[in-house]
Amino acid sequence: MRFYELDREGRLALLKDHASLSDDEVEILRHGSGIDFRMADSMVENAVSFISYPLGIATHFTINGRDYLVPMAIEEPSVIAAASKGAKIAKVRGGFKAHADPSVMIGQVQVKDVRDAEKAVEDVMKSKDELLSIANSRSSLASRGAGARDLRCRAIDTSRGKMLIVELLVDVKDAMGANVVNTMCEAIAPRVEEVTNGRVLLRILSNYALHRLVKAEARFAREMVGDDAIEGILDAYAFAEADLYRCVTHNKGVMNGIIAVALATAQDTRAIEAGAHAYACMNGRYSPLTRWRRGSDGDLVGSIEVPLAVGIVGGLTSTHPMARLSLRILGVSSAQELACVMASVGLAQNFSALYALVREGIQAGHMRLHARKVAMLAGAEGSMIDEVARRLAREGNITVEHARRIIQAIENEGG
Ligand code: MEV
Repeated sequence: MRFYELDREGRLALLKDHASLSDDEVEILRHGSGIDFRMADSMVENAVSFISYPLGIATHFTINGRDYLVPMAIEEPSVIAAASKGAKIAKVRGGFKAHADPSVMIGQVQVKDVRDAEKAVEDVMKSKDELLSIANSRSSLASRGAGARDLRCRAIDTSRGKMLIVELLVDVKDAMGANVVNTMCEAIAPRVEEVTNGRVLLRILSNYALHRLVKAEARFAREMVGDDAIEGILDAYAFAEADLYRCVTHNKGVMNGIIAVALATAQDTRAIEAGAHAYACMNGRYSPLTRWRRGSDGDLVGSIEVPLAVGIVGGLTSTHPMARLSLRILGVSSAQELACVMASVGLAQNFSALYALVREGIQAGHMRLHARKVAMLAGAEGSMIDEVARRLAREGNITVEHARRIIQAIENEGG
């Protein structure tokens, strides 16, 4: 039986087996227990309650030769089905090949009131080792082969005069890294002031995680996609390349996949969005985060390149029970591996959106899923769900009352 055909208990049993979950962990999934109010109250101000999203599982993902079940948290119908469909077609040619850079984040220290900017840059660079060691004294990362690795300094012209920007490059390993980078920036600030004779203002990481790039590529078999759809997808891609209005929607589809995995694993989704869209503007023009071309064998080849500052330790990733479970189900052992999964999901998502758009349009799929839901609400079970959904869609009357009539009719036909 396919994952989506299983009932909830069947899906939980499959996950239990797949990720060797304990009974307690399955209970957490069954009851949807996230954080309690005490935790919520300690996290944000003026807390009053919670808002929940459905957590679903995307199937068929093979990435760098490994099979994954991918938890996705999202309110929008069709997204999980679309990711799974893209992954299923990509699997025919071996799935996704993905690579993530080491987790190097940038921290920025802004210095004002520097009299001789050129000399100050030189002085900062002469103090590089000392500043790096101050930064590294604030974290155990260095003892684990990571930490502040490099420092650079540049003068910038701003509307309020020349400023000096000192940048720390920090390998944050398996964390998203905001806390440690901010701590390091604050730690070096007093010494930066002494060295530059300037005044430090901002000390904060950059969410433009340009050194944390992830690339993923997949081939979508010609015999499965079809020449017409391949040509259509290439036209759709050309449209997105040439037109800002379309490009934003193209990238929104990519982010449907990336952010759903990010939410399931409690990542900082705002950081991911901000970084991704800045990267889309890398060449001075907002561009698609994915690329599409025809391979020499006729297959459709898709690739994605995006910065992803994500973590599997620290923050909510280790304290939120549902995020921890999502990471267990994924079975990723590093932030880089998680980034590879997220980029692959973004690419699969984009493929399926374009595939649907160039064929029957996006609404037909939504309607099919909606019809299945209505069929289930009306009491259809097992193989009857698809039959009822088909008739609902065909007859253009997708209501629970009509579904009940169809169920009755099918039962009468059977009896
Ligand atoms: C809907 O959430 C996402 C799409 O609009 C993406 C696209 O148009 O490529 C279907």
